[in-house]
Amino acid sequence: MNNAGWLDVREKMAAYLTRTIGQGLTEPLDPGLVIMTVGAAGAMNIVLKAILNPGNSVVVLAPYFMEYNYYISNHGGEVTVAQTDLFFRPDLNNLSSKVTDKTAALIINSPNNPTGVIYTSEELTTIGQILSEASHKFGRPILLIADEPYRKLAFNNKTVPSVFPAYPYSVVVNSFSKDLSLAGERIGYAAINPEMPEGSALMEAMVLANRILGFVNAPSLAQKVVVELLEESVDLDIYHRRQELLIYELTRMGYDLVKPEGTFYLFPKSPLNDDLAFIDLLREQLILAVPGTGFGRPGYFRLSLCLSEEMIKASLTGFAKAISKVGRAC
Ligand SMILES: Cc1ncc(COP(=O)(O)O)c(C=O)c1O
Repeated sequence: MNNAGWLDVREKMAAYLTRTIGQGLTEPLDPGLVIMTVGAAGAMNIVLKAILNPGNSVVVLAPYFMEYNYYISNHGGEVTVAQTDLFFRPDLNNLSSKVTDKTAALIINSPNNPTGVIYTSEELTTIGQILSEASHKFGRPILLIADEPYRKLAFNNKTVPSVFPAYPYSVVVNSFSKDLSLAGERIGYAAINPEMPEGSALMEAMVLANRILGFVNAPSLAQKVVVELLEESVDLDIYHRRQELLIYELTRMGYDLVKPEGTFYLFPKSPLNDDLAFIDLLREQLILAVPGTGFGRPGYFRLSLCLSEEMIKASLTGFAKAISKVGRAC
């Protein structure tokens, strides 16, 4: 097959994406601008390989998926962190100040790992304006990369707005790892905005990057399988039930958190300023959590809901003991 993937698969993908994330565009998505990839991780690496020159900066909104650091440095780029506000919403003034003549791209991730925040279409439009103005000022297009593996994991039928109508220089990266729980099959895709003037040139560079990074092409059988499952998803109610249970119990114990709008994570505030020290208290109770420091946002910790309800219930005593130890230490 073509290194971008089976053509019939990319045609079906383009038709599906036109309906879901292409609303409001003047043109439908083009199968020639869709590439099947080795997961979202593979997709991110080929986009970054295609656009980065040594010393270029890539802006990320913290808290963020820490592997972006490695994807960016893999291709000679440098990470610039822009913090979000107390509710993990983009701080647009701060973001604007981080975009410089060295900036090649901005990565956003909505619904967000680890916070579960979904960016609104107004926020995306403002982000698009910031990037348009900066591209004009610095004389080069800055790419917006939207990493969306949790797109279908949005609670209460909330829609996840698309970046495409907000900014022509955008690429969407996605995966079947989360919404079909197929992480091991290593299958995902990247789609280039049909309104991007240099879309075909970017596509050629991404297809070459796919070869020379050693992926060559996305798993062939997995492409044929997932394209028949575009309307399917894991049962979101299961994650939602676990989320509501844990939020209810943790808040009762005195934990403080912003309710996630999607994903299968919770990102509570650490009762100790030192999130690493608090993670140790949880570990003593046999609870494994990831420190916020690992997401560029110290003072928080991430929990995953990819466990049975019984396991979550069994952990509650441990959460209560850990926070009571903090109380005593104060
Ligand atoms: C935000 C985010 N992006 C990308 C990935 C990578 O996903 P994939 O398995 O599709 O490579 C993950 C996986 O945890 C993720 O959370």
